[in-house]
Amino acid sequence: MNYNIGKKSSLSELDSYFSEDYVYFGDAVNSPKASDQQVGVILKLLSLTQGSSVLELGCGYGRISNRLAEKGARVTGLDRSAILLKKAEADAAERGVVVEYVLGDMRSLPWRDRFDAAFLWYTTFGYFDDADNERVLREAASSLRKGGRLLIDNPNRFESLRHEFPVCSVAQRNDDVRIDIYNNDVLTDRENLERIIVRDGLVRRTHLSYKQYGFSEYVRMLRSAGFETVEAYGEEGGAFTSDSARLLVVAYK
Ligand SMILES: C[S@@+](CC[C@H](N)C(=O)[O-])C[C@H]1O[C@@H](n2cnc3c(N)ncnc32)[C@H](O)[C@@H]1O
Repeated sequence: MNYNIGKKSSLSELDSYFSEDYVYFGDAVNSPKASDQQVGVILKLLSLTQGSSVLELGCGYGRISNRLAEKGARVTGLDRSAILLKKAEADAAERGVVVEYVLGDMRSLPWRDRFDAAFLWYTTFGYFDDADNERVLREAASSLRKGGRLLIDNPNRFESLRHEFPVCSVAQRNDDVRIDIYNNDVLTDRENLERIIVRDGLVRRTHLSYKQYGFSEYVRMLRSAGFETVEAYGEEGGAFTSDSARLLVVAYK
């Protein structure tokens, strides 16, 4: 496979990565219980209460957005995948919740000063080059009302660099498997993921690349995007240390 190793994810790469296969293995990777727990962390870090208006950028198949709506938030979910949004809408109907799902690109948002909170969850930030990644932050800031909060959940670069590369992980559902092979590009700070899907006897390969920013880089980018204060947390909202598997960044407009 001739991928653009070390480069941003192209739109066609994003589309083939976030496809029906992504939904198919979803519960095998994030069990319903794990998703419920993640929603608890988001509610806490974004101080969401009944009726808070919240925007999920890159909401996928609604795994988090629909659960937040069940907790009483007024949720808008934006994604560039029509396939995933269709699943999100079907799941919302099954759960009996109303979520506003919007097909769009997080680099250009239609809202101004509207939401109490916004978030990018589960490694949804960093797919583009620096200029476009920073554009996502500026668009998120513009979509929030004054005092609004933004939450970003991405891997902790320090912790992920401790592993011996390539790192492999396998998810299984019935007789089907999804193999992920991670590599790090130390020259660009990007993590490059090659995904091999073996499903119904057919093999498909996709690729994703995302930049792994450190906390001080987030602070610089978020301040320049219009946020006033920026905080760091580890997974589950605990203290952020070099051992934390995740870096959860909360910024206040
Ligand atoms: C790793 S998934 C996370 C999904 C969801 N946040 C969750 O936790 O289950 C990232 C999502 O971002 C979406 N995405 C990628 N690029 C995007 C863009 N430019 N604009 C909007 N959504 C995008 C993908 O389609 C995918 O659904």
